[in-house]
Formats: sequence, C-alpha cells, structure tokens
Amino acid sequence: MRNIAVLTSGGDSPGMNAAVRAVVRVGRSAGLTVYGVKRGYEGLIHAELEQMPLGSVSNWVNSGGSKLECARCAEMYTVSGQKRAVQTLKNWDIDGLVVIGGDGSFRGASKMVKLGARVVGAPGTIDNDIPGIDNTIGFDTAVNTLTYCINQLRDTAESHQRTFVVEAMGRHSGHIALHAGISGGADIILVPEITWSEKKVVKMVQRRIDQGKKFHLIVMAEGAGRAIKKPDYKAFDLVDYIDANTAESVTVRGCMPGHIQRGGAPTAADRIYATRCGKAAVEALLAGHNGLMVGELNGQMVEVPMKSATSRSGRRIDRELYNLAMQVS
Ligand code: ADP
Ligand code: F6P
Repeated sequence: MRNIAVLTSGGDSPGMNAAVRAVVRVGRSAGLTVYGVKRGYEGLIHAELEQMPLGSVSNWVNSGGSKLECARCAEMYTVSGQKRAVQTLKNWDIDGLVVIGGDGSFRGASKMVKLGARVVGAPGTIDNDIPGIDNTIGFDTAVNTLTYCINQLRDTAESHQRTFVVEAMGRHSGHIALHAGISGGADIILVPEITWSEKKVVKMVQRRIDQGKKFHLIVMAEGAGRAIKKPDYKAFDLVDYIDANTAESVTVRGCMPGHIQRGGAPTAADRIYATRCGKAAVEALLAGHNGLMVGELNGQMVEVPMKSATSRSGRRIDRELYNLAMQVS
C-alpha cells in the first residue's frame, strides 16, 4: 500500500477535520502518500483530489465543519456513478480510501467495495445512529450545543412561566434529543423510536401545572412524528396543539436550533475520538482489511462490517436511559 485517500460525506459533523488530520498524520508516518478528496463522492466521481502533506492539516483539530467539504451526491446512487468513483481511485493509483460519514455514506462505500475498491469507514455524523458502535464523531458536540440552547430557554421559560418545545436534530433518531434532554433537565422527551401522543403530552403538562409547576421544557426530535405515523410533524405543530388544548394562561413557544447543532468547534471528547478513528482507519487499510467501519464499542476501538453498520433498523435508543429521563423529570 502506497497511496490512500480520504473524504467526508453526508452531513458535516464537528470532529471530521480532526479525523482527516489523523488520517494524514498517521498515514504519512507509515510512509503513505495521502490524498484529500473534495466534496465527498461528488469530488471522487469528478476526480477532485489533492495531495495532503503534513502541514496541510495544521489547525484542523479544533475546527468544526469539514474543510474537505461534504456533499450529498445523487450520482453515487447509480451504478455508473459508483463505477466512476472506483475508476478515479484506479486512475490515481489509490490503494485504499477512508470514508468519513454516516450510514448512507457507508452504503455508497459498500457499493464501491463490490466493484473492487478497498474502503474503510469512520463514523462521522451528529446523529449517533450507527449500529455496532457506541459513539459517532460529532455527537458529543451536538449534544453539548443543544444542552446550551435548552439552558438559554430555561431562563425565559422560568421568568415568563412558559412551555417551550425545542426541536432536536435527528430525522430518524432520537439520540441527540434524549441525551440533551437529560442534560438540559427536560420535562418531556419525544423521540421517533418510542411511541407518544399529543393528548398524553397535554395531560403531562396539565398534571405538572396541577402540581404547581409553572414552566415546562419539552425536547422533541426532528423525526419524533414518525412514532405517531406523522413523519412531517414538527415542534411547531406540537406548540399549536398544546396551545389549542390548554387554558389560555398556558403560553407555549417553539424553538428550532436546527443546524446550529451541527456547527462549531468540536468538544475535546469529539477531537480525541475523531483522532482515534482516523488512526484506526489507516491501520485497518494497512492491515489489508476492507468493507468495514472503525468505531468505539465498550471503550475499545473495534472494526464493524459495513453490512451491520448500515442495517436499516439503525442504532437502538437506550430505553434504560429514556426511562431514567422520565423518572427524574
Ligand atoms: P450520511 O452518510 O450522513 O448518512 P446520506 O444518507 O445523505 O448521509 O449519504 C451520503 C451520500 O452517500 C449520499 O448523498 C450518496 O451519495 C451516498 N449514498 C447514500 N446511500 C447510498 C446508497 N444506497 N447507494 C449508493 N450511495 C449511497
Ligand atoms: O444526519 C445529520 C442531520 O443533521 C440530521 O440530524 C438531520 O435530520 C439532517 O442531517 C439534516 O440534513 P440537511 O442538512 O440536508 O437538511
């Protein structure tokens, strides 16, 4: 193995740059030439590659977003797109590729493996929804950012005795909502993996009011509507419902921090994890491994076959943690 390449794909996540930095630094110290691919699969298909010397990643460990840039690439869903991506690797004499992204990116990677490429994945997504591992790069930062948002809202909620519905990112998963909900002291947490109803939410709010509680914080995952078969149901729909079904004295407001959760400097934990993932990915390539993702499970770095990492069911929500959240709320 002489030449490897690295790309970031799907939604950006804080820590992706630290992972690329580790790929470059560990790769170079093993005597490899490392190429950076711009804009994920889009750049691979269109051969946008550049050599990455050691100094090219100076100041990357602390920065959010992706300096290599990310893309969602429609062409990669087609066999001709996948073949073009593999052909670029051949044309540039690249023996192994590190894909930093989420489960969608690994589906694309698996297609390339079937076409003869050597690809190893590193889990870069804020959603923490990849099965087989405990953590993804960017999740910790997103949870901290959302916790900060909830803290900010708590002040107004308390001062004005209001009910706030805060929307967490996660179209298909409630991990950010659950974790930030617990750390932000939310009263109610709604996730796509656990069924709930608007009526029950109003009942819970009412019960709290009856107990003398003056303000309420509800954290709802972006995809929580899936649990009630309303995939397009958003935080502001719940705001309207609570508003219409409680006394006039109950004032409800919504807040959608949105992509704020995906940006910003990575936390120390994400920087360290990203660095470990970058190293493990290069080592997997050097060991001749293929079609797998590296990541942390029970405190250890492990290799997970891409097939399991891309299973449709996603990573399960931690029910024990959810029950605890409800118990202490
Ligand atoms: P993430 O990697 O964060 O889950 P996406 O699901 O958007 O983000 O996937 C990122 C990119 O990976 C897509 O834009 C596409 O180029 C590629 N991809 C996703 N799913 C597939 C698939 N089934 N086959 C081929 N490529 C895919
Ligand atoms: O997968 C990361 C994520 O931020 C999800 O939490 C969110 O549902 C989605 O991407 C948003 O995607 P986009 O930036 O394309 O709107």
